[in-house]
Amino acid sequence: MLTVALPKGRLGESVYKILENAGYACPEMNESSRKLVFENKETGVRYLQVKPSDVAVYVERGAADVGIAGKDILEENSPRVYELLDLGFGKCRMAVAAKNGFVDNPARTLRVATKFVNIASRHYANKGRNIDIIPLHGSIELAPITNMSDVIVDIVESGSTLKENDLCVIEEFMQISARFIVNEASFKFKEAEINRMLEKLKEATQK
Ligand code: PRP
Repeated sequence: MLTVALPKGRLGESVYKILENAGYACPEMNESSRKLVFENKETGVRYLQVKPSDVAVYVERGAADVGIAGKDILEENSPRVYELLDLGFGKCRMAVAAKNGFVDNPARTLRVATKFVNIASRHYANKGRNIDIIPLHGSIELAPITNMSDVIVDIVESGSTLKENDLCVIEEFMQISARFIVNEASFKFKEAEINRMLEKLKEATQK
């Protein structure tokens, strides 16, 4: 039996579809319920419904053997897991954005609001730019609107959240997509099962 950490929400639907196409369906999951664990004995999978940003935690600690996580989360948290496949969906970019017309003054410390504290810190450290990080958990766009920050570092998918809030992209610096990740010990002890899932996922993403 393989335990799979599945992200809930936006990414989750595409992830489940791919797993279904790969032969790892779990009909129980189609029913709306508050259940968090689903099992399909026939295909030998157990699904855990987890918050997208927690997928890598479950996989790193072995509560799940495998999982599907966004590259943004992997870059932010650097979990000790194997990243075996780029699934090619859940595509977005990590970007710096600000109010339309914003002009940076390099002489001043830049106030950066973000959910991605490590990614943002690394990005500006590479440029040698002094910043003041403002950690937030959501609705990051509000920070420059309320003048709490100068810029945000956040993911941009369609760009509509920025547009609807009169913000614009200043710089895009990281391509993001969903990745198939594996627990290091599981890969040793369940190698055949995991490789089978990997191959099926490769086929399903190419369809
Ligand atoms: C993410 C991100 C942006 C938005 C980008 O937020 O933080 O706000 O999606 O998508 P778009 O370019 O297609 O508009 P999410 O929906 O995860 O909600 P959050 O504000 O709670 O983080």
